[in-house]
Amino acid sequence: MLVQKKKLLKTIIIFALCFILFITYIFLIEPNRLEKTYLIIETDRFPENSPPIKIIHLTDFHIDKIGWREKRVLKILASEEPDLIFLSGDYLNRKDKLKELTEYIRSISDIAPIYFTLGNWDTLATQEAVIKGGGVSVFEKKLKVHPVPGNNFEFNIFSIKYNWAYIGESNEKRRLDELLKDLDKEYFTIFLAHTPDHFPFAIEHDIDLMLAGHTHGGQFRLPFFGSFYTDSKFGKKYEKGYFKERNTILYVNRGIGMTGNIKFRVRSFCSPEILIITLKSKKK
Ligand SMILES: [Fe+2]
Repeated sequence: MLVQKKKLLKTIIIFALCFILFITYIFLIEPNRLEKTYLIIETDRFPENSPPIKIIHLTDFHIDKIGWREKRVLKILASEEPDLIFLSGDYLNRKDKLKELTEYIRSISDIAPIYFTLGNWDTLATQEAVIKGGGVSVFEKKLKVHPVPGNNFEFNIFSIKYNWAYIGESNEKRRLDELLKDLDKEYFTIFLAHTPDHFPFAIEHDIDLMLAGHTHGGQFRLPFFGSFYTDSKFGKKYEKGYFKERNTILYVNRGIGMTGNIKFRVRSFCSPEILIITLKSKKK
């Protein structure tokens, strides 16, 4: 009997320790384990005589406060010395942090020019805060060719108004057709989206690169199972990472922060991500 009791106690202690370790991991370790993903894209639309350019894509900050993770992002950005920085929305979990957001965006724009769009957590006040910090909005903007400072590479960039939700095939097609009717294919074209749900339309319009976030990679994942929820009409299909169909590349970034929808800010087997893209001329 005593041996059985000892065994039970030992099992309970092991379970309790595992539980404490897992809680520590999902609350403290994984949310701060910033991972860098490197992606090289070669294109015919890049001038042969130009040095490659480095673009950093960040998304889904979901800021509650400017803490260790946000400051660490700044350090990584500074050490990578990008030419451009793209932001895909969902900046704040708390509406009272607009001033902090402006200051944070200013610290990022001191490193490189920022182009940004909005996400489903953002309002026009958020947009103003990011613009005040030095960001250039492409939200609901027509195509425009932008130069890269110090480089003779020019690119198109655009976003759409309802870029966080699928708005129905005919609505979406009409909106994109309107935005893209003057598309000059001489230039590399980037669709700065929030959700990956628009990927079929990016393929149809022969967009070179679509950058998205929104899914957070599922945020809470388990080994061999993956995510529980992605908030995408495609479910797990485009939950994270690299995809290429026909001429269009899609990268779905896992994002930096965690959704404010639930009280607990946790990540499991889904670390925050900084995407570092090198864009260069295709070798002929
Ligand atoms: Fe988000």
